Amino acid sequence: GEQVYKYYADGEWKKSASGKSVSIVNPTTREPQYKVQELACVIRFHCGSIFFIVFLCLVDWVFGTACTQEEVNKVMEASKAAQKLWARTPLWKRAEHLHKAAAILKEHKAPIAECLVKEIAKPAKDAVTEVVRSGDLVSYTAEEGVRILGEGKLLVSDSFPGNERSKYCLSSKVPLGVVLAIPPFNYPVNLAVSKIAPALIAGNSLVLKPPTQGAVAALHMIQCFHLAGFPKGLISCVTGKGSEIGDFLTMHPGVNCISFTGGDTGIAISKKAGMIPLQMELGGKDACIVLEDADLDLVASNIVKGGYSYSGQRCTAVKVVLVMESVADAVVEKVKAKMAKLSVGSPEDDCDITPVVSESSANFIEGLVMDAKEKAATFCQEYRREGNLIWPLLLDHVRPDMRIAWEEPFGPVLPVIRISSVEEGIHHCNASNFGLQGCVFTRDINKAILISDAMETGTVQINSAPARGPDHFPFQGLKDSGIGSQGITNSINMMTKIKSTVINLP
Ligand code: G3P
Repeated sequence: GEQVYKYYADGEWKKSASGKSVSIVNPTTREPQYKVQELACVIRFHCGSIFFIVFLCLVDWVFGTACTQEEVNKVMEASKAAQKLWARTPLWKRAEHLHKAAAILKEHKAPIAECLVKEIAKPAKDAVTEVVRSGDLVSYTAEEGVRILGEGKLLVSDSFPGNERSKYCLSSKVPLGVVLAIPPFNYPVNLAVSKIAPALIAGNSLVLKPPTQGAVAALHMIQCFHLAGFPKGLISCVTGKGSEIGDFLTMHPGVNCISFTGGDTGIAISKKAGMIPLQMELGGKDACIVLEDADLDLVASNIVKGGYSYSGQRCTAVKVVLVMESVADAVVEKVKAKMAKLSVGSPEDDCDITPVVSESSANFIEGLVMDAKEKAATFCQEYRREGNLIWPLLLDHVRPDMRIAWEEPFGPVLPVIRISSVEEGIHHCNASNFGLQGCVFTRDINKAILISDAMETGTVQINSAPARGPDHFPFQGLKDSGIGSQGITNSINMMTKIKSTVINLP
């Protein structure tokens, strides 16, 4: 019969007892491309009626749904047991496993990249880059981990008033337990390993719930970790729709930490999750502020790269240009000229602009474009869409009453707002409910620093488009863009807690 990719638990590839599968639609062909196991959950209501409980048991028995809860429970139990042993495995050995996984991942870049092309329409070369970057991230994390975790602290008591030198406090970093990692569709491999590697080096176990679009790429990546010989149960990967399985996983008492990247589902997760550390990155509306003295060619190339790479489907994409009126015409002309050179088509042909991830995403983007049209934005190109493929579009003279001035299209459509003062630009940036990154273009470094200080975002880039990488840089959002800080070092630290032992002298 038709192949349904299995999920990964206890060191083995398994079929879900739910008997269900979920189809992954290729964004380019809009035809089903792959199928994965669907671990689907039913919520058991404890209503006290024996008849209702019997009825639910019957439903479970007929449809097999409750089995999934048992499957997830088993995953969590195995994960906890494996973690206890892993935490006692020497740090250098944990690092060795990660280096091995990184090498295997890089060796298998071609088949994994192929999945990224078919599942999320990532341009072929970018798909390979994602896998190679992931291998590098895993190795770097192993190296960083042995340094950070190889150090502890010794404190003595007599620095605090009233104390003799009679207490010695030894403190070090210990793992949290089971880490649940939920990456988004736009980097199903890279944003998975950016959670997996820090979790593992720090002595945690890891349960991955990949995005449905990108699940098969993630399963291939997990196979690389499997080949690297990690202990059974330490890594698990459960597939299924977030709407079915999400709450059961995120509210599971066996989970000790959640690292999530995605949309505003993260806000819902943070409200429902227990008293555990959360790391969340939930999108952005990154502003690009252009001053009059900026290098306008540099501005234009960064707007095109920042706004249209992977068709704008990056949290860190430039999502609004705030340009001083006096240079706005010149910037718009330069950007238009560069946009005309972008190739539009299929990811297999490595086109710059490829279909967006789903029909509903394309419809959403179109809704923003139509709203801007009704409110008389200037279209620098004709709006064009075929299926999920949307041609790159620059909208000039956008005003704050247009939805696109504030909302995140996650597509190749970029608004330009003309400003008459820098303060106006900063005000627009800070009025957003997002605060991931932003950028400012000017030749005056003093002004740039002052603007950076005034922008309420996790990072400000001076004279370059926003970007998460290099992957050891801190990466964090303010406001609805998330909580916690990522980047290799911060993620390792976040996935540990301090344990101290105090020696009391007589
Ligand atoms: O959209 C996810 C975010 O982490 C972007 O990463 O590398 O494209 O800046 P990057």
